[in-house]
Amino acid sequence: MKKLVLIVSLLASCSVWAQGSIEAGKAKSQTCVACHGADGNSLLGMYPSLAGQHAKYIEKQLKDLKLGMTSGGKQGRYDPVMSGMAMPLNEQDMADLAAYYASLPLAHNTTPENVVEQGKNLYAAGDAERGIAACIACHGPRGNGTELSGFPKISGQHADYVKLQLEKFRDGNRNNDMNAMMRDVAKKLTDEDIDVLSKYVGGLH
Ligand code: HEC
Ligand code: HEC
Repeated sequence: MKKLVLIVSLLASCSVWAQGSIEAGKAKSQTCVACHGADGNSLLGMYPSLAGQHAKYIEKQLKDLKLGMTSGGKQGRYDPVMSGMAMPLNEQDMADLAAYYASLPLAHNTTPENVVEQGKNLYAAGDAERGIAACIACHGPRGNGTELSGFPKISGQHADYVKLQLEKFRDGNRNNDMNAMMRDVAKKLTDEDIDVLSKYVGGLH
């Protein structure tokens, strides 16, 4: 019993994140439906699907998006539409919404045939000559990322949204990536690389 109490209190002290509730998150997601879809799969390519994304990643983005607003774009992640949506959320709301979206199944998506080969090369091997790190090193062979490392799931995501994010990382408009991990990769990508990669990850399950 003593051991159990010790373990439980250790776990509790390790967790700096609020515990999210899927039920509560579902109730709070009504204002998100218009852009992110009724089941977390958005219908428009410029809005990211949130279904099946890692909870910790979603929570971090919501914190960063709110910080982007409160800091006037100096810190966090600033987007004129989404930062405003994150403003009213408190930490518990963010944890609940993250738990809810993480629990939903991501809709099926595909990779167009004409980008498979070029996409696969860049994704899995990078380009040593141009100093481009392989995406696979962080986002994994199936594009699923890893919850604990904070690497997001990128497979199944809309090409339009992925393209926009790679461009934002490249110009530094999005700079909430720890140690500039994504900016370092993205700044070496050409428009063509971005076009190919953003379509390639769609079907990479
Ligand atoms: C009016 C449309 C709109 C509404 C409503 C909206 N969002 Fe968003 N959301 C966006 C856009 C646009 C982006 C992409 C921002 C960018 O390009 O950086 C985004 C991005 C996100 C991201 C980051 C996803 C990623 O893969 O990095 C999360 C998480 C998110 N929204 C959650 C929510 C939640 C939770 C709600 C409801 C409280 C919500 N959104 C309501 C438009 C919206
Ligand atoms: C060194 C590790 C690393 C490498 C290599 C890497 N990424 Fe990332 N990537 C990250 C991290 C970390 C984030 C999330 C940053 C944050 O916390 O907002 C990210 C975010 C992204 C996002 C945004 C996801 C979203 O939902 O908004 C896309 C798209 C992406 N990466 C694509 C790629 C592609 C394509 C490559 C290869 C050219 C690549 N990444 C290489 C670590 C990496």
